[in-house]
Amino acid sequence: MKHIFKQGSDASAPVLLLLHGTGGTERDLLPIAEVVSPTSSVLSVRGNVLENGMPRFFRRLAEGIFDVEDLIFRTEELNAFLDSAAEEYQFDRRNVVAIGYSNGANIAGSLLFHDANALRGAILHHPMVPLRGKELPNLSGIPIFIGAGKNDPICSSRETEDLTAMLTQAGASVDVHWENYGHQLTRTEVDAAAAWYNDQF
Ligand code: MLT
Repeated sequence: MKHIFKQGSDASAPVLLLLHGTGGTERDLLPIAEVVSPTSSVLSVRGNVLENGMPRFFRRLAEGIFDVEDLIFRTEELNAFLDSAAEEYQFDRRNVVAIGYSNGANIAGSLLFHDANALRGAILHHPMVPLRGKELPNLSGIPIFIGAGKNDPICSSRETEDLTAMLTQAGASVDVHWENYGHQLTRTEVDAAAAWYNDQF
């Protein structure tokens, strides 16, 4: 997968896996990694799917309606990419914390839904429930931050509440941060995620 790897100054700090939103690139979230954990190594990946020229991490049939078969295929593809990147760049595969926004948060959520060992933790900015009707793995010991907007037209509050309940039931410890805005990622939300991260790791 097309990506950027930046070696951090602290080899024991979690490696930040950055996952952009629809139409973004692997450069988009680099400034956020600097705010959250400036000493971490960073692996920032570009989604392999194109929707009218816009990179994404999996196909969708319409806004908020996912192609579940492709979602599962792309989740496995990203998970396998993380395994090979850990070998190539010599980092601890068990020490990866995802930061995803929108479509990137959704594939990070899907990693958590499919494999308890995919991520050590996750910061999900404006995620949706990636898929329903699936039994989740045991996610105990995995801290998850969810940033949501009360007026987000793409992810309703209900979607945030459902996702929180599903992850919590699977044993994850979930903290939800609400903003009064829409789908955009605000500086106050990033600062809240950074404060949360520093409490966890
Ligand atoms: C998705 O397709 O993952 C969500 O609708 C969010 C987005 O537009 O990327």
